[in-house]
Amino acid sequence: MTRRISLTQYLIEQQRQHGAIPQELRLLIEVVARACKRIAISVNKGALGEVLGSAGSENVQGEVQKKLDIIANEVLIEANEWGGHLAAMASEEMEGIYLVPNRFPQGEYLLMFDPLDGSSNIDVNVSIGTIFSVLKKAEGSKGVSEEDFLQPGSAQAAAGYCVYGPQTTLVLTFGQGVAMFTLDREQGSFVLTSDEVKIPEDTKEFAINMSNMRHWDAPMQRYVEECLAGSTGPRGKDFNMRWIASMVADVHRILTRGGVFMYPWDKREPNKAGKLRLMYEANPMAFLVEQAGGAATNAKQRIMDLQPTQLHERVSVVLGSKNEVERVTAYHLEAAQ
Ligand code: AHG
Ligand code: MN
Ligand code: MN
Repeated sequence: MTRRISLTQYLIEQQRQHGAIPQELRLLIEVVARACKRIAISVNKGALGEVLGSAGSENVQGEVQKKLDIIANEVLIEANEWGGHLAAMASEEMEGIYLVPNRFPQGEYLLMFDPLDGSSNIDVNVSIGTIFSVLKKAEGSKGVSEEDFLQPGSAQAAAGYCVYGPQTTLVLTFGQGVAMFTLDREQGSFVLTSDEVKIPEDTKEFAINMSNMRHWDAPMQRYVEECLAGSTGPRGKDFNMRWIASMVADVHRILTRGGVFMYPWDKREPNKAGKLRLMYEANPMAFLVEQAGGAATNAKQRIMDLQPTQLHERVSVVLGSKNEVERVTAYHLEAAQ
C-alpha cells in the first residue's frame, strides 16, 4: 500500500530535510490550508448553506460580489490574523491592505489571495478555488504599507491554490517543485497524493475564451487560428480546446496533464493589460507552473519578472506547456519588431 503522509508531516519533513521552510512559513501554510477546509465546507453545502447567489455589492474592480466571495474572504482573514506569522494581507475583495490588528503579534510575511476564483461557476456547481501568494516584508522596513506588497513574483516565498471540485485538492510550492494534497474528509486532513508534478513541454490542448477572438491582437489570433487549422494546417496536428472559466480549474488540468492557458489583452479596453490580476492570480500560478517545468509570460515577458506598481494591477496571461508558451510569446515579440 502507498504510504500516505499528511500535509503537516510533509511540511515538517521539508523543514527538517531541506531547511526550505522556516517555522513561521510552515504555520502560515497550515493556517491557509485550514481556512481552505472551511471554505470547502461552505462550498459543498451550496443551496443548503444559503451561500449561493449575489451578495448585492461590488468589489474594487467593479465586479459583483457573490456571497461566497465574501465568506471566503472573511474565513481567510479570521484564520490568519491572530497567528503571529503575518504583517498584513491583501485580497481581490478588499481595496486596501488589511493590517494585522494591534492586539495580535506581527510577523514578517505578507499574504495575498483571490479568496474565491471562478465566481461565475459557484451557482452552477462547477469547480472553483482559492489562490494565494506569500511574500516576505523587506528586512528592516518599519510598519507595513501597500509598498511592501509591490514585489515581483520571483520574490514569492510560497504560492498555491485549493480547488473545490469533485475532490478538494491543495497544490503548493516553496520553490522546490510542486506537491498536491487531496482532502480526506473522514480524517479532516490534506494527504499528499503527488509530489512530482510535471507539465509536459508539448501539448495538443489549449484554453482560452474563444468568444473574445475578434478583440485579440493579431499574434494571439494567429496562434489560435493555427491550432484550429489542425493536422492540415501549419502545426500539422489537431488540437483540443477546454475552457472552464475558473483559472484554478484550468491551471489544475494543466498541472495534471499539460496544456496552455491564455487570457490575453483585448482591444475593448486597450488600457487594461488583461482581465486577470498580477499579484494574487498570475504570480502564484506562474510560480507553480514554472516549478512544474512549464512557463508563464504576459505574451512578451516572464510574468514573475514584472515589477508591480499597484495591488490590483492586471496582466495578460499565457502559461502552461513550455513550447506552446514560447511559441505564443515569440509570435508577439516578432509582431512587435
Ligand atoms: P474571479 O472569479 O476571481 O473574478 O476570476 C475569474 C477569472 C478566472 O478565474 C477565469 O479564468 C476568468 O475570470 C473567466 O473569464 P471569462 O468569464 O471571460 O471566461
Ligand atoms: Mn480569480
Ligand atoms: Mn475571486
